[in-house]
Amino acid sequence: MAEIEPFHVMALLARARELEAQGRSIIHMEIGEPDFPTPEPVLRAGIRALEKGELHYTPTPGLPQLRQAIAGFYRSRYGVEISPSRVIVTTGSSAALLLACAVLLDPGDEVLLADPGYPANRHFVRVVEGAPRAVPVDAASSYQLAPAHLERHWAPRTVAALVASPSNPTGTLVSTERLSAMAEFVRGRGGTLIVDEIYHGLVYEGEYTTALSLTDDVFVINSFSKYFNMTGWRLGWMVAPESVVPEIDKLAQNLYLAAPTPAQYAALAAFEPETAAILMARAQELKARRDYLVPALRALGFDIPVTPQGAFYIYAGCARLTRDSFAFARDLLEQAGVAITPGIDFGANAPERHVRFAYTSPIERLKVGVARIGEFLRV
Ligand SMILES: Cc1ncc(COP(=O)(O)O)c(C=O)c1O
Repeated sequence: MAEIEPFHVMALLARARELEAQGRSIIHMEIGEPDFPTPEPVLRAGIRALEKGELHYTPTPGLPQLRQAIAGFYRSRYGVEISPSRVIVTTGSSAALLLACAVLLDPGDEVLLADPGYPANRHFVRVVEGAPRAVPVDAASSYQLAPAHLERHWAPRTVAALVASPSNPTGTLVSTERLSAMAEFVRGRGGTLIVDEIYHGLVYEGEYTTALSLTDDVFVINSFSKYFNMTGWRLGWMVAPESVVPEIDKLAQNLYLAAPTPAQYAALAAFEPETAAILMARAQELKARRDYLVPALRALGFDIPVTPQGAFYIYAGCARLTRDSFAFARDLLEQAGVAITPGIDFGANAPERHVRFAYTSPIERLKVGVARIGEFLRV
């Protein structure tokens, strides 16, 4: 437990809420979830499920029709055929990541992870007595693991590498070519590649595809949280190699029995054309926010060497503005009413020189935020 850390941003968010309760205006650029409401068709499907009393356990790997719909999503979005029997519906991608670590790792087994990266990943590894191995990444590899990192850091106890593309906190992509080379490398070492595709669909330029189009020998993680704007429904999924599905099923039965039933019925509407049109418009809105915010932050003196291609994050160097990103984020909140996330949440690779901006507020609010940061920096 001593090695499990909280999300530091939660304390910051709590302080921001406290200031708001006192009447202060706060611009939120710290929150890692879309500000959009659940799409109407999904909401209606959820309400219908509640009214019909669809409130019993589902089978552990998920409602058969939802597993089928997810398989259909791979066919329509990526042109990839997968069997619905390989889809396991989970309580958010968080549960999928935990299940993947639990099924793959023995005590002491190592997993390679990019630093900076999503903070929970190293804790999923650690909580099942694995050893997270943080690999420092920088602009040279678009803040992503690259084949050369795997070659350098793969050790006798390494059994897996985890890639998130687009990444939290950097919003950058792994190219298909590199992903393919990494899949091949990992297979050659008898290991497993885990690919977190939770921000797929929120990609504003650049080619990308699911890792399932490259190989069946991969754990692909995804979620209804981000692209589908369903964070609080707690629903995600994993596509695993057929041979490990019974093991995952067994484990999930014991850990949480099944994902929430009303959420699964609601999610059936997530793939309908009406929902798809809503989500596409929202992705365009996020792109417009990114296109505004990246140059605005650069003009303020933040370093953004790689333009983030996806998700809703900008990972910005702040070394020209401060020597302590944590104090910077704290002072910015207290003095200017702008909440951002300090680098410390994403690892040990120069966290004091980085902050993360989330563009999960409307563009008018982002503009107010930028103006406030400008004033704060001039003081
Ligand atoms: C990269 C990444 N993976 C997984 C998650 C977990 O999301 P959820 O459990 O809501 O699917 C998050 C949440 O921020 C994330 O950023």
